[in-house]
Amino acid sequence: MKRIKIIGTGSFLPEKVLTNFDLEKMVDTTDEWIMKRSGIRERHIASENQATSDLGFEAAKQAIENAKIDKNTIDCIIFGTVTPDTLFPSTAIYVQKALGIPGIPVFDISAACSGFIYGLAIAQGFINSGAYKRILVMGGETLSKVTNWEDRSTCVLFGDGVGAAVVEESNDDSGIISIYLGADGNMENLLCQPAGGSRIPATEESVKNKLHTIHMDGNEVYKHAVNTMAQAATKALELAGISGNDVTHFIPHQANIRIMETTAKFVDIPREKVFVNIDRTANTSAGSIAIALDEMNRKGMLKKGDIILIDAFGAGFTWGSAVIRW
Ligand code: ACO
Repeated sequence: MKRIKIIGTGSFLPEKVLTNFDLEKMVDTTDEWIMKRSGIRERHIASENQATSDLGFEAAKQAIENAKIDKNTIDCIIFGTVTPDTLFPSTAIYVQKALGIPGIPVFDISAACSGFIYGLAIAQGFINSGAYKRILVMGGETLSKVTNWEDRSTCVLFGDGVGAAVVEESNDDSGIISIYLGADGNMENLLCQPAGGSRIPATEESVKNKLHTIHMDGNEVYKHAVNTMAQAATKALELAGISGNDVTHFIPHQANIRIMETTAKFVDIPREKVFVNIDRTANTSAGSIAIALDEMNRKGMLKKGDIILIDAFGAGFTWGSAVIRW
């Protein structure tokens, strides 16, 4: 098995910031409630004319620059998102067009918050098969576009942003040591956007009933997220032949600070090793881990040889975890 490694990262959060205090003026909530229940203080919100690929293009440019590569050497683009620019063509197509690298295969994957880790696993498979050498793996959303801004139980939790990573075959001992993925469709109804697909196409009724927005049973999702993220992380550590003690940085999906801290406890990773930016980003779904990786990379927090555990859980349900040696 060839090992693949990340050679460059990028991310982009839209300029506009919406704070908890702003939300206090929109729905019946308080900064204190949101901070205590989720750890979120503020989130970035795309403007009316910013689609997911617009954020993605900025993140992709940064990742290419950070990797110090010629964009024409990218063989493939994989974009994890549940808020595509259009149902078709894919968001990856718009990124490819903006980057000006026509011809290479590009596509989206729908794995919600696990989208970036699913993307890394697909890239690993492609590189191992010899099909492609250098792949741009992206993840991110404009969840604000599918948020019901009158529903206080969901609108406080999400934010917009995209992260990107350039991956290729590793030439040393760094790279992805293990990846573990899973899914269970039995709970698809606990977190979804009901309308807009072939099940409930757009009608006046569907729009009036806000079926094109996020519907979530927060309590149920919370319970499953805690258990499943703990199990996924345990599995990825097992596959890598290491324990939580060996981890330098834990980057859990930034969904809720309580989910993140509970998962860390379960796998014996002390709080100071848990990377947290949910206070500034909120939950950016497939963007979350890629954005966190880029922030850490840019801040110089990732040193050669560091062991990084990433771990995600999202709608579907889907989940994924991976161990990376930087
Ligand atoms: N402000 C004030 N009060 C609120 C708000 C709000 N924004 N939202 C809900 N409440 C109220 C509820 O109506 C309820 O009131 P009641 O007791 O009078 O009925 C009370 O607060 C408690 O609500 P709960 O839902 O029980 O609160 P909980 O502590 O479970 O926190 C939360 C809710 C934050 C949504 C939590 O369940 C959660 O984080 N779930 C996971 C959801 C998640 O992260 N989803 C993201 C996608 S999946 C993933 O990425 C992991």
